Amino acid sequence: MGKSQNKERATFGSKLGVIFASVGSAVGLGNIWRFPYETGQQGGAAFILVYLICVLILGIPLVMAEFYLGRRSHANPVGAFRGLAPNTKWYLVGLMGVFSGVMIMGFYSVVSGWTFDYIFQALTGSLSDKTPEVFQKDFTAFSTNIYKPIIWVVIFMIITHVVIISGVKKGIERSAKIMMPMLFLIIVIMCIRSVTLPGGEKGLQFLFHPDFSKINSNVILGAMGQAFFSLSLGMGCLITYSSYFGPNVNLGKTAVTVALLDTMVAILAGVMIFPAVFSFGISPTQGPELVFITLPNVFQSMSFGYLWALLFFLLLGIAALTSAISLHEVTTSYMIEEYGLTRSAATSFVTITLIILGMICSLSVGAWSKFTIAGMNIFNLFDFISAKILLPLGGLWISIFVGWIVPYNDLKSELTNKGTLKFYGFNFYRFILRYFAPIAIILIFFNELGLISLS
Ligand code: PFF
Repeated sequence: MGKSQNKERATFGSKLGVIFASVGSAVGLGNIWRFPYETGQQGGAAFILVYLICVLILGIPLVMAEFYLGRRSHANPVGAFRGLAPNTKWYLVGLMGVFSGVMIMGFYSVVSGWTFDYIFQALTGSLSDKTPEVFQKDFTAFSTNIYKPIIWVVIFMIITHVVIISGVKKGIERSAKIMMPMLFLIIVIMCIRSVTLPGGEKGLQFLFHPDFSKINSNVILGAMGQAFFSLSLGMGCLITYSSYFGPNVNLGKTAVTVALLDTMVAILAGVMIFPAVFSFGISPTQGPELVFITLPNVFQSMSFGYLWALLFFLLLGIAALTSAISLHEVTTSYMIEEYGLTRSAATSFVTITLIILGMICSLSVGAWSKFTIAGMNIFNLFDFISAKILLPLGGLWISIFVGWIVPYNDLKSELTNKGTLKFYGFNFYRFILRYFAPIAIILIFFNELGLISLS
């Protein structure tokens, strides 16, 4: 164990590669599937406002903290804490991160599989000429089917596997450089189409005119969880990617760029979806099925609907893939560095484990849906525990570690590339990590548990 400090460690080839890969991780189902339905269920603009505040005051500082941990240690999340705080229990925070990543992949691969099925349906023309009831019935029949969704999970995981096994530069960086520009292009085209639909203004109003009475403890915890999930924060994914950053990467600037682009895509996803939803008189509060049941209705009422459907689900599929790659890499790098496995052995082990978990989550939506814990099936339980508990908890420990345990000069030197960059407000930044972030996260937790009341 503890083989984390190996000498020939891979790095991303260019600064652009760094941005593409990190944004590729951040932009995913979280932006295009989860953000819109959470926004729809939690009251629209008010939720978005709390979300934006969370990204700004918690998200960006914590992304930088993870970047510090990764590039300073050149190791996976467990190795990073081991290297920086030897002979302590801090490595457990890294381990919790690996665990959260595996849990997220359980339901992530299922939703990604659904997306692939919809791409296939759009290509074969079976996503059109249906009534809303039929869309609903077909989706339920498909997602609760025993075999079909699992076959797509396996296909999705095999594609992820091929990228990961090809390594950091040839696999992760290259695939992100191809897929991310495609994603941006598709999203811009779809936004233009959506806002030009008659009656679309109501959707924009829903997104941008906050009704403050809608803010309650659930909305605040939901927004914080969504911010962590969307930024790939709190589970060491950004530690893993930044361990591949070269010495000249400006960590602060990269963190701000990633957060900005990620937030922009989430808002654009809202702009793409809600005007269309309102234009066709559909309720925005549908929940996780929003993009799988509601949107196909919308597409088929538009001219060239099959084309829009195909573009949309391609967009979702690409976004899912680049994020799944990052989730897979966290555990793979952990297995390689901490257990001395080869990349191919580690990748295979992780792929098989994730396929099994994906199967369990998929079955929990259908055949095993009677089995619930705290009223949730395994799929929803994994989503709840990871986004609303483990990621914020990971963020809490990371802010305490980087704020209190890491020496002042060490943090400053890494974030300024050994003093060659200026970092105005460094002390304020450290203050956020030491006091503000931990206290804010704890208050939000207590608030949700009903121990205090913020609203
Ligand atoms: N950020 C991804 C999304 O928005 O879909 C999900 C994710 C990826 C979460 C990687 C956590 C992670 F480590």
